[in-house]
Amino acid sequence: MSRQVRILGIAGSLRRDSYNRATLRAATELVPEGATIETFELDGLPGFNQDEEQNPPAKVTELKRRIREADAILFVTPEYNYSIPGVLKNAIDWASRPYGDSAWNGKPAAIMGASVGAIGTARAQYHLRQMMVFLNMFPVNQPEVMIGNASERFDADGNLTHDATKGFIRQLLQNLVEWTTRIT
Ligand SMILES: Cc1cc2nc3c(=O)[nH]c(=O)nc-3n(C[C@H](O)[C@H](O)[C@H](O)COP(=O)(O)O)c2cc1C
Repeated sequence: MSRQVRILGIAGSLRRDSYNRATLRAATELVPEGATIETFELDGLPGFNQDEEQNPPAKVTELKRRIREADAILFVTPEYNYSIPGVLKNAIDWASRPYGDSAWNGKPAAIMGASVGAIGTARAQYHLRQMMVFLNMFPVNQPEVMIGNASERFDADGNLTHDATKGFIRQLLQNLVEWTTRIT
């Protein structure tokens, strides 16, 4: 029997009608057979304080546990001021600490993002890839799922309606599952 791959999906927006949270919801339905996507919501995560990293808040402990239980991580990031939003960076920082106890270490990963602008989070995604060098994470390179003009690709209920985008998400998830099986 082939192995089940558990993916933890994290969207970098707290917004109720977030396109990125909607993209993550779409991904949970496009995941290939033999894999599952569970999600972790970032609301309620306090701001990082290094004084507390040895005895972190319960939500941080839960985040680190969920990351460690997963075989792979799926980041779905908005672009804020040409980078990733503070809430996502904050979560990455918490789970990377204390030094030597990073929950991200060695995890395969994939990145997607949705923006109302035309560039589709490219600049934020490359910042996230840069962070993964130090985090020692192993992101899938392609396809790059950069969803521009998001308001035209979702309906009023937050359902992804753009078939080509669904195809890219499906392919990225397939590649993530194969990559995870290969390297872990
Ligand atoms: C503080 C802030 C900065 C933003 N900066 C960018 C940006 O640099 N590039 C971009 O394409 N969109 C930018 N946007 C617009 C976002 O793409 C848009 O708000 C998007 O809907 C956010 O993702 P969400 O729907 O998942 O919350 C910015 C929005 C905010 C609130």
